[in-house]
Order: sequence, then C-alpha cells, then structure tokens
Amino acid sequence: MKTIELPLPDDFHAHLRQDAQLPGYVRDLSAQFGRALVMPNTIPPMTTAAAIADYKSQILESASFVRPDFEVLMTFKLNPNYSEQDLKDMMAVGVVAGKYYPAGVTTNSADGISDFEAVFPVVAMMEKLGLVLCVHGEEPGEFCLDREPAFIKRVEILAEKFPKLKIVFEHLSSAKAVEAVKRLPNNVAATFTVHHLMMTLDDVVGDALRPHHFCKPLPKRPEDRAAIREAAFSGNPKFFLGTDSAPHLQGKKECPCGAAGVYSAPVAIPLLVQEFDRAGALDKLPDFIAGFGADFYQIPRTTKRIEVVKESWTVPAVVNGVVPLAAGQTLEWKIRD
Ligand code: DOR
Ligand code: ZN
Repeated sequence: MKTIELPLPDDFHAHLRQDAQLPGYVRDLSAQFGRALVMPNTIPPMTTAAAIADYKSQILESASFVRPDFEVLMTFKLNPNYSEQDLKDMMAVGVVAGKYYPAGVTTNSADGISDFEAVFPVVAMMEKLGLVLCVHGEEPGEFCLDREPAFIKRVEILAEKFPKLKIVFEHLSSAKAVEAVKRLPNNVAATFTVHHLMMTLDDVVGDALRPHHFCKPLPKRPEDRAAIREAAFSGNPKFFLGTDSAPHLQGKKECPCGAAGVYSAPVAIPLLVQEFDRAGALDKLPDFIAGFGADFYQIPRTTKRIEVVKESWTVPAVVNGVVPLAAGQTLEWKIRD
C-alpha cells in the first residue's frame, strides 16, 4: 500500500466554538493537526486575557484525549480600545496574533472594525510587541465578489505604514489578492484554505444551492482558483495552510438565512494530499502544511510526523452535528490512525 510520510501539519486558521460541541470540534482538528491558530470570533468574542486563557484550557482539555501534545496558538479580536498592557497580558496566556474583522463581513463580526484609522495605535503596539496581524480582507458594502479585491488597498496601507508588522491576508479567494501578496514586502503573507483551493462559485450556486459550501470570502471565478492553486503548488513561502475550518450545526446551514463556513477539519489533509498529488506537486506539500507558516510566525518547525496511506474511505454525512466538506464522498487518501 502506498504510504506518504509528512510533517505533522499546522493549521494557521481554525474556528472552534465555546458551545457543547467544542470537544468534538477539537477532536476533529487535533486528529489532523499538531498545532492550530484559533480564531477569536466566538460568542462572546475573545478580547481579554482571562477569556482567552479559559478558552485555551477548554481546548487543551478536549485535545488531551486525542493528542496530548496538541498546541494552540491564540488570537484576540482587534478593536481600538486595547492598551499595551492588555496586549502583554494576552501574550502571557498564549496569544500570538490579533484578528482584524471589518464590521459585518462574516460570522460574528458585527462588532468588527468600521473606522480603519482608529485601530492604527493598537496596530502600532502590535508591531512593537511582535504580534502578528491576521486580516479578514473584505471591504464592507462592496458587491460580494468584489469585497476582497476592494480591501487590498488597506493591506497595502498597513504594510507600508507598519513595515515591521507581520500581516497575514487570510483565506485568499481572488487572483488580485494573490498578486498583491506576491508583490508586497516579505512582512505580508497569506493563508489558503482547502476549499478555496478546490472550489469556485459554481460549487456554491452553479447548479444547485449548496449551503455547506457557502463561506466567506465566497469562492470566485475559475481564474481566481487557478491563481490560488498555482501559488500553493509553487513553493512560495508567502503562502501556507490556514483551513478556516468553521463548523456550524446542520440546521444553521440548511435554513432561510444560512451561516457562512465550511467544515474542513475532518478531511483537510487527505484532500490536500489528493490535490497536490494530482497536480504533481507532492514535494511542495510539507512546507505548505508544516513549514512556511511556522517560519512566518517564528515558531520552530515541527519534528513530529504523520503517515497518509492510499486507502479509500467514505467521509461521513455528518460529523458532530455538522456536514463536513466532501460529505458522503469516497476519498483516496487516509491518515493512518
Ligand atoms: O466562512 C467563514 N466562516 N468565514 C469566516 O470568515 C468566519 C467563519 C466562521 O466563523 O464561521
Ligand atoms: Zn476564519
């Protein structure tokens, strides 16, 4: 049987939730990843060291049953009101990044940023303290497919104004944003999700409405997906994996006003092996899943390994009450237990 050894992957963009489903979500994530950067758009949001420390300990407790050495990298939700001491207190409990959500562009972001310049003082403190700025780059109010391209100018302003700040333009979905990240200096990197690597808008609304593919930013045109794939398969260290795996219970997706989010944690690595293999780029996969991200965040690369075997299996229809990416499909690669 064909077996591939890979470094134990890092997920530099994952959503968990604080509700009763948390242990199941952590189980799925820690089965595939050794480390994860956990997003702060929870209810209530992650804005204090105390709340973040509590969330982190809940996550680690749930992971202890699956992967006792699982590591979580925490984030806080950016707003203009933090003092330098607040940031230091959050760093002391494991925060490595702050997340910029423009107001209203995605799940639980109504309290996001509406005054761009008002956050500059906090961003300047982040630059000084070495905190990474993760950006959900979509411009509120623009037509839905133009929101990401319209936000590029803000990333350019941030990169120019804060040249020592590390900026991650998250979950790229457009060729224009891929181009911008390539062009910008080395303090700007980007994550790619599994679903934006695989889907276009046709997979969301092309023939039928597929609510479990609905996410923010929206998957876009074939040429946008092609730009993402080219960049991921090229071995450019500016681009690394952040799955944006975002669980929502089935009933919250299959309803008149469905939530945005694709639950990819249960299938992320088998799908990536499949895509990189089919593209003849398997040699580029280790750095993409467990190299470039660690380098950018300035944490040591993992020395742990997993094995992926060529063995078919069928993705369950529902996992933890959530319909995962590729539900019901037969995949050709499987993580060895
Ligand atoms: O589709 C998404 N879901 N995009 C995001 O930015 C947030 C996420 C979530 O939290 O559900
Ligand atoms: Zn996200």
